[in-house]
Amino acid sequence: QSLKHYNSFGFDYSAEYFCILNDQAELFELMDFVERNRCQLTMIGAGSNLVLKGDVKGLVVVNNLKGRKLIVGESPADFTFELAAGEVWHDAVEYSVRQGLYGIENLALIPGTAGAAPVQNIGAYGVEIKDALLEVEVFDIRTRVFSWVSALDCDFSYRESRFKHEWKDSHIVTKIRLKLSTVVNPKLSYFSDSAFDSLDPSALEIFEKVSTIRREKLPDPKRLGNAGSFFKNPIVTDRVYQDIKKSYPNLVAYPYGVSWKLAAGWLIDQAGWKGKCVDGVGVYDKQALVLVNYDNKVADNLLALQDSIVTDVQQKFDVVLEREPIALG
Ligand code: EPU
Repeated sequence: QSLKHYNSFGFDYSAEYFCILNDQAELFELMDFVERNRCQLTMIGAGSNLVLKGDVKGLVVVNNLKGRKLIVGESPADFTFELAAGEVWHDAVEYSVRQGLYGIENLALIPGTAGAAPVQNIGAYGVEIKDALLEVEVFDIRTRVFSWVSALDCDFSYRESRFKHEWKDSHIVTKIRLKLSTVVNPKLSYFSDSAFDSLDPSALEIFEKVSTIRREKLPDPKRLGNAGSFFKNPIVTDRVYQDIKKSYPNLVAYPYGVSWKLAAGWLIDQAGWKGKCVDGVGVYDKQALVLVNYDNKVADNLLALQDSIVTDVQQKFDVVLEREPIALG
């Protein structure tokens, strides 16, 4: 089975075995299959945070579990929003803001599914999913048991969680629960004072503003292959930051505890890569942090571009960029 339509770069590798999961109960059959064939199971969502770089051995499962539930909380203002893992994230965000609920409006238009969201702790415009996440329902492949894990136990940090590490091969996300509220609580740290007409914009207004910014800066994966930010913004010590700042006074960076988070897009842009196109892949011309695939069927040229950028940025700034999307195959 070709995975071309299951990864947002559109690379044309195949899976040895393939299926689409529509019902939680089917997980038990899948486990029997995996045991019989002694193969590995790899769960994917929309494939929008993946660098597929070869054929995938074993069973690739697309998580297409559907279902949304809005549950009234202890106080009339509080709601728990339960989403099955295969729900489209942006649609769920839109639904929540149309109900007048605050919590995830800054995370509009992030491609991908609800189940993938906690894996890399999606974040944008001053909010991360961990800020609204209550708990995650997981299926443990080893024990074949479903359970809820508290968000506090997921070790969330910038684009990181236990799902990317120790739980990578054992835990499948089947549902998530978010804490939302009708209490006016806009998160505006990312925005300038003049961004909104009022001091207290509605969740819907923030949702629309974020959607507009993203449409301007980021390519739509349906039209141009990409996986959003290709690199993480590197976190460096104050000494490293001060060193770079001496040579580049206009360096863009944000305080991160006692450290600094550097804008990787700025580093790549400064190094002259923005808008460059090499062998059918390139650096997006409106946001240098995004690598795009114009017409490649395989990932080799993209990975070569990645290496060139990493080497160049390291030579110029002495900072090592780390890839953000997960590699597969
Ligand atoms: N910049 C440049 N040139 C560029 C790109 C950026 O100079 O080509 C500078 C600009 O000064 C800009 C600053 O870098 O002000 C930051 O850029 P931007 O606001 O676009 O955000 P980012 O740090 O590049 C991060 C996330 C995005 C998220 C935005 C908004 C990461 C790896 N990326 O990008 O997330 O949407 O902030 O909060 O943290 C994603 O993860 O796929 C993603 C798109």
